[in-house]
Amino acid sequence: MEKRVVVAIDGPAGAGKSTIARRVAGKLGFVYIDSGAMYRAVALAALRGGADLDDAERLEQLARATRIEFEPGGARVLLDGEDVSAAIRAPEMSPAASKVSVFSGVRRALVEKQRQMGAAVSVVMEGRDIGSVVFPDAQVKIYLDADPQVRAARRVSEMEERGQALVAAEVEREIRERDRRDSTRADSPLLRAPDAVYVDTTALAADEVERVILEIVRKKAL
Ligand code: DC
Repeated sequence: MEKRVVVAIDGPAGAGKSTIARRVAGKLGFVYIDSGAMYRAVALAALRGGADLDDAERLEQLARATRIEFEPGGARVLLDGEDVSAAIRAPEMSPAASKVSVFSGVRRALVEKQRQMGAAVSVVMEGRDIGSVVFPDAQVKIYLDADPQVRAARRVSEMEERGQALVAAEVEREIRERDRRDSTRADSPLLRAPDAVYVDTTALAADEVERVILEIVRKKAL
């Protein structure tokens, strides 16, 4: 049997994690898992159900009870069987996901699901705490970063491709606020694990980042 490999990619919003993790998983034939989509799905379930985003107990219940699935390749995210891929990407879902992710009960429920998803197969999983908490024994840990201005510009063009016009300055403000909340929360804050390879993508095109990361994976795990 081939050995199971975990590639953990962490970093702030807009550093290029989703694009790169999806591409790297495709090249390696690994399963791609976007853990941020799971926090977004819980936030969506909460907003739809009229739950207060401060109600830790209710949010934990929701995180435990909802079924979150990814179609192969990560193209679609299913929440209790419904395709919510577009709904979780609405601009208001970013701060909402960041808010629900503060609660330890929510994190415990989702970390459990994430570990199950990566238990038997090789995965590329991206998020904020994958190398530090979800899979501390991952063979490959990457920390992707970029200047906030560049990250905001990327988010604007990504949303443009989906037909949504956003104001760059507003997106940058929201990204900085999310960085602050994600890095200062008590439970599993976004941090650069000491054993993670730091990759600054500010001046790099996606192809270059992909090449750098594939190289790291081949050296460390294959
Ligand atoms: O990666 P993203 O922008 O889709 O994530 C949305 C929010 O979810 C992010 O602001 C913080 C939270 N999150 C988290 O706390 N831990 C993860 N592993 C992934 C995301």
